[in-house]
Amino acid sequence: MRIRVRTATRSDLPLLAPVCQTLDRLHARIHPDFFRASGTLQELSHTFGQPNQTLLVAELDEKRMVGLIRTTLSDTPPRPVLAPARRAKIEELVILPRFRRRGIGRQLLTAAASWAKAAGASQLILTVWTNNRAAEGFYCSLGYRPISQALAKNL
Ligand SMILES: CC(C)(COP(=O)(O)OP(=O)(O)OC[C@H]1O[C@@H](n2cnc3c(N)ncnc32)[C@H](O)[C@@H]1OP(=O)(O)O)[C@@H](O)C(=O)NCCC(=O)NCCS
Repeated sequence: MRIRVRTATRSDLPLLAPVCQTLDRLHARIHPDFFRASGTLQELSHTFGQPNQTLLVAELDEKRMVGLIRTTLSDTPPRPVLAPARRAKIEELVILPRFRRRGIGRQLLTAAASWAKAAGASQLILTVWTNNRAAEGFYCSLGYRPISQALAKNL
């Protein structure tokens, strides 16, 4: 199996719909109070033409998409209490279920980290929602560690 990781183009968008839906559905299942399985490609379509964002895809054969990662860069706002830094955030990372545990997630994350480093970022950050054990195992195995914990209580 030969996987190619490359920057997405607008014409890839329709081919990315099943990949996007996989992540939407997962989030809607584990946190229905926050997410809906909308099937929209809106978030991804906003990436193009934005210098602070990148969308990388994992392509199997010609134009068969099996995964994606979207990353954004941001600088801390100039506030005295904040240590100035440029960080990259993983907004979405997902691999189609039948292509998991073959190193594709790692390949995409490594490529996104290279892009971020070249753009001057000193840190990569991301959110893993609770009850997503696969993502926890994945990031933990690659050296990512928790830096905060979000709490919520229904009112
Ligand atoms: C998390 C995800 C992206 C991992 O992608 P992947 O291509 O399967 O990961 P890789 O094959 O590169 O795994 C690299 C290492 O991470 C760890 N890992 C991956 N999946 C794991 C799991 N389900 N449980 C525990 N560890 C896991 C393993 O150490 C693995 O190495 P190994 O297979 O040699 O043991 C994939 O499971 C996925 O798409 N999940 C649904 C979407 C999601 O949760 N995205 C992240 C939150 S935004």
